[in-house]
Amino acid sequence: MSGCAFCLDAWADETANTTKQEREVIMISQNIQEAFNKQINAELYSSYLYLSMAACFESLNLPGFANWMKVQAREENEHAMKLFEHIVQRGGEVELESIDKPKVKWESAVEAIEDALNHEKKVTGMINDLVDLAAKENDHAAGVLLQWFVSEQVEEEANADDLLQKLKMVGTSGAPLLMLDQQVGKRE
Ligand SMILES: [Fe+2]
Ligand SMILES: [Fe+2]
Repeated sequence: MSGCAFCLDAWADETANTTKQEREVIMISQNIQEAFNKQINAELYSSYLYLSMAACFESLNLPGFANWMKVQAREENEHAMKLFEHIVQRGGEVELESIDKPKVKWESAVEAIEDALNHEKKVTGMINDLVDLAAKENDHAAGVLLQWFVSEQVEEEANADDLLQKLKMVGTSGAPLLMLDQQVGKRE
């Protein structure tokens, strides 16, 4: 065994001892921890789904829509990290699960954005369930974090719906679609 591995073992032992002994925060409950870990997976799946849509838009020669989806995917990662940090800060344990394979092909841009909107509606339902659970567990800290997610979901649904309405207006016609693609390509 190399010296490095030995050092790491010693460091791990020491870290385990000190972190367990020094933590005096109000620990996260088992139920909230499990639900938050599940939501981390859902947010990472959302990220994966939007990345898959980005790839599809690249193949449809719509780089602006692909950019919109890449930005969306990045935001979903940030959502997962908010939950990750919350669990860690409250002395809980993050446990990552495998991420389901997302759909890879959509017949049209409209179909993809419709899927995105429906997916956001589903996530809103998940967030609402988490709010109910936090209230049941009397977990105010989780409740405050989840209020951020509640507002974020209003924005997420509105953004997807806005894009869908615009897309339906321009249809599949060349020039207007290219103009919309350029416009959504500006999202940062
Ligand atoms: Fe999200
Ligand atoms: Fe989202």
